Amino acid sequence: MFIKNTWYVAAWSHEVKAGEMFARTITSIPIVMFRAADGAIRALHDRCPHRGAPLSKGRIEGDAVRCMYHGLRFESNGACSQIPGSDRIPPAACVRAFPVVERNKWVWIWMGDPAAANPALIPDTFWLDSPNWRYQPDYIHYNVSHLLIADNLLDFSHLPFLHETTLGGSAGYAEGRAKVDRLDNGVRITRWFENGPPAPFVHRLTGWETNVDRWNIYDFLLPGVLLMDSGSAPVGTGATDGHRDHAVQFRSAQALTPETENSSHYFFSQAHNFALDDPGVTATLHGQVVAAFKEDWDMIHAQHASLALDPEFRMMPLPIDNALGHYRWLVNKKIKAEETATAATTTSTAPMVKTVSVLA
Ligand code: FES
Ligand SMILES: [Fe+2]
Repeated sequence: MFIKNTWYVAAWSHEVKAGEMFARTITSIPIVMFRAADGAIRALHDRCPHRGAPLSKGRIEGDAVRCMYHGLRFESNGACSQIPGSDRIPPAACVRAFPVVERNKWVWIWMGDPAAANPALIPDTFWLDSPNWRYQPDYIHYNVSHLLIADNLLDFSHLPFLHETTLGGSAGYAEGRAKVDRLDNGVRITRWFENGPPAPFVHRLTGWETNVDRWNIYDFLLPGVLLMDSGSAPVGTGATDGHRDHAVQFRSAQALTPETENSSHYFFSQAHNFALDDPGVTATLHGQVVAAFKEDWDMIHAQHASLALDPEFRMMPLPIDNALGHYRWLVNKKIKAEETATAATTTSTAPMVKTVSVLA
């Protein structure tokens, strides 16, 4: 049960190397990505229509790929162009091709109707490819539903508890209520924590001993993309009025992509716009974020294991769950709308024939 007509992050650009097949399952569909002769990324269903072998175990031939089981060759649009030992190419001998856009170091894939794949719908992540920002790209694999990770990212009140020594801060951070704005395609969360001690990772980066004003302002958009403006500035320097001259600022881009119902891809980055000539700052910041995300990983997997023991368990909603409640509602709404549209199409076009499957 996944949203289909949406752009998912399929990979970091650097993961798809020229001359190599790159396999990744997205929404339970195996995908093989490769770079065509012009360098553009193509994505095909990673399952040969002949006997089901993964094309990713084959080889790239110019703009085409060849299944290295019995040699069928597929062009980058998915059409079969050669079947060794056969003059005829049956119409079913093709694989599905998926629209792909490579933008700002992320590779986006459209898993639904190709005709609806509008690149203008891809959110802006300019800082992932800007000389004014530095970051270290990274990826974590989760063996849980993407929704549990979305829950985590939609409520930062867990920061001072789960991330006490990394991203956290004093418990006061969790006392303030985030402002939640409901968007058509997600949620905008604005959280200010004024005149509090700097978060441990900010303290390590800056050495600040004074209190700070801290902000986390982010959009969490379908199908699981978090884009955040965050930072801290010594208290009294006007950050709450928009003055950021004395601030350390960060831009975070994170994307959750379902692999299956119970496993997920998590792409993340935390960019900074200061100390751009000091790779040590980038590495330290990245290390702090990775340490914190390991804390999330441990807790969410433990939560998943706990939930798996009791399918009847119902979560207890609290006021802090406002954002994630809305997000889950949006996800369900979109899935239902797509199902209804598909059912309507199927009913109006269903042929009156009986299908016989043959196991040869
Ligand atoms: S399984 Fe691919 S050619 Fe036979
Ligand atoms: Fe977290």
